[in-house]
Amino acid sequence: MNPTLALALAGIACLSVSGVAGAADRHTQTIASTCLSCHGAGGKSQGAIPSLAGLQKDYFVKQMQDFKSGARPGTIMKRHASGYTDAEFAAMGEYFANLK
Ligand code: HEC
Repeated sequence: MNPTLALALAGIACLSVSGVAGAADRHTQTIASTCLSCHGAGGKSQGAIPSLAGLQKDYFVKQMQDFKSGARPGTIMKRHASGYTDAEFAAMGEYFANLK
């Protein structure tokens, strides 16, 4: 793919995501999007995995820290939580809290 086309496509993808949560920066949108394959499109789960959309920010950050430390047992979330910093938890918490 030529570089101009790739940039144009990236711009379109970015526009469509930024419509959802307004203020979230691109890094936050990117890392948050990796969660949605399990937690449902738009953070709204259709199955047994809990939804992330509309979770209270403080609750979200606490759960992520607890998964990371092992204080909250989980099947898979320790692995996901371990990759991120407290600042990223806070940014994602803000993002998901504003997803309706
Ligand atoms: C492979 C599937 C999968 C992915 C990807 C995934 N999760 Fe989860 N998540 C789960 C499951 C399953 C649970 C239930 C707890 C457990 O079994 O670990 C959970 C639980 C949670 C909870 C607790 C919700 C509550 O109401 O208590 C939060 C918060 C959460 N995940 C956030 C995230 C974030 C943020 C990401 C992306 C960085 C993510 N998850 C990626 C499967 C996933």
